[in-house]
This record gives sequence, structure tokens and C-alpha cells, in this order.
Amino acid sequence: MEARLVHVACIMDGNGRWARKRGLPRTAGHTAGEESLSDVVRAASKREISHLTVFGFSTENWVRPRAEVRHILGLHKKLFGRIKELNENNVRINWIGRPFDEPGSRTPVYVQRAIRKAIEDTSANTGMVLTVAFDYGSRAEITRAAKNLVRDKKIITTENLSRNLYDSTLPPVDVLVRTSGESRISNFLLWQISAAKIYFTDRPWPDFDAVELDVALSLLS
Ligand code: IPE
Ligand code: IPE
Ligand code: MG
Repeated sequence: MEARLVHVACIMDGNGRWARKRGLPRTAGHTAGEESLSDVVRAASKREISHLTVFGFSTENWVRPRAEVRHILGLHKKLFGRIKELNENNVRINWIGRPFDEPGSRTPVYVQRAIRKAIEDTSANTGMVLTVAFDYGSRAEITRAAKNLVRDKKIITTENLSRNLYDSTLPPVDVLVRTSGESRISNFLLWQISAAKIYFTDRPWPDFDAVELDVALSLLS
């Protein structure tokens, strides 16, 4: 039986509000959000999902208070360090975002290293591909693709632009999830979501779970 495998993308929003509701600092919300992601990855890897792409940190998020940014960076190191768990679930890790050598890229070296190591250490896995968008913005991605074509004197076609995105192997998104009651896209995967169903849920990301994932998937049936 050949199952139809889908691409789910998540805008993981509402960590701050989740924490505020509990009288906790925003950083506690991000910590809970990273744990929630780990649970969602495990659940997703057991479903008919070939790709899960999550918005971890946007090009716009650098303006947040330094201590919060530092905490979020540390959590990405933790996330990319979950190699054992990823290998147990046969999940291959992937990353999209501003290339580290590009002007304007701000990803610290220790996060770059964690990303490279996670990609390498999970490269043999054959199950779901987990793509983390870090220092990612969709307009920058599309603009760069167009610039590449001009530089290489190629004609501008849909196929050529697709081929020059950060990861040309990412299939189109089938379902886009945004948590925490916001109905914005916030510069995420604008090109890739052209035909996606969208699931907006009021739950903040730390409370997003396998049941919610199934509700999102049910949009496809
Ligand atoms: C999402 O939660 C995490 C990131 C953007 C890194 P937020 O931090 O945006 O949480 P809210 O929107 O303030 O509740
Ligand atoms: C989008 O959430 C980015 C991530 C989830 C990483 P934001 O909380 O930054 O989005 P806006 O600014 O409210 O649109
Ligand atoms: Mg937010």
C-alpha cells in the first residue's frame, strides 16, 4: 500500500502568551515550546507525513530583547542536539534560512555548528524530514532566488525560481498550521504554500499536540 505522504508546516506562535498566562517569564514559554516540538516531531514521524517544516526563528525576530534571543538560540542548540531521539524516530534534519556566509546573516557560530552536526548525524535516516527555518524570511529567500537567476543569466521561470530557493527539494506545503489565534503568515514559505490548506488554532504552541496535528491533517481528507 503506497500512502500519500504530506508536507506539514508550522508557525509555532504563542510561547510568550502561554508563559504570561502562567505568570512565568517568556523564556519559560520558549522552553515549553521546544519540548512541545519534540513531541510533535515524534507524533508526526509516525503519521503519513514526509516533511515537517517549522518556523523556529525569523529574520525579524533578532530585534527581540537580547536575553530572549540568547535563550531562543540556546534552545535551537538543544533542538539540533536531539540526535538520539531523531535517529530513534528515523527523522532526518534539515535547515533553511539565510546562508551563514551572506551579508546580514547573524547566526552565531555555535548554532551553525549545531545545525551542521545535526544534518550530518541524521543524514542516513530515511523517514520524515524535519526542516527547521532559522534566521528565515520568505521574501529574502525568493529575492535571493531571483538574484541567482540574474547572476547566472538564466531566464525567470517558475521552475528556475523553485530550483534556487534555500532548499529546492522541499515539496509544496499541504497544510500550514499557525497556533495562538493569529491568522497571519508572517513571511513564512510564501512560495511553497501557494496551494496549502491552512489550519489556524487558538492553542498556543506549547499546547499543540498530536490531537491538534490530526485535526490539521483532517483538512486534507
Ligand atoms: C513564538 O512565540 C516563538 C518565536 C517567535 C521565536 P512568541 O515568542 O512569538 O510568543 P507570543 O506571540 O509573544 O505569545
Ligand atoms: C512568527 O512568529 C515567527 C516564528 C514563529 C519563529 P512571530 O510571533 O515572530 O510573528 P509576528 O511578528 O507576530 O507576525
Ligand atoms: Mg508571536
